[in-house]
Amino acid sequence: MAEITFITRDGQSTKLEADSGSIMELAVNNNIQGIEGECGGVCSCATCHVHVAPEYFEKTGTQEDVEAMMLELDDNLTEYSRLGCQIQITEALDGMVLHVANE
Ligand code: FES
Repeated sequence: MAEITFITRDGQSTKLEADSGSIMELAVNNNIQGIEGECGGVCSCATCHVHVAPEYFEKTGTQEDVEAMMLELDDNLTEYSRLGCQIQITEALDGMVLHVANE
C-alpha cells in the first residue's frame, strides 16, 4: 500500500492510498482537480501532468521517449515533470507528494 499526496494548483492537499494502478487512475477515480486522463493512459494527451517532489522523482521509474516528447509540449514542464499515467503505484512510492501541473 502506498500513500500518495496530491496538491492541486489552488493549494488543496489530498492524501490517497492505493496498491496498484497508475497515478493518473488514482487521481481521476478520486476527482483530483487538474488531472483529466483524457487519453485513457496511452501517453498522448498530457492531461495527467504532475510535478513529483524531488526526493521521490527517481522512485517513479524510467521515462520513455514518448512521455518526454509529450511533456515538452506542455508549458508547465519542469525537471520533475512526469505523466501520471506512466507512473505505476508500488509500495516504493509510499509517502510521495505530487503537485498537479495544470489547472
Ligand atoms: S492520461 Fe493521457 S498522457 Fe496520461
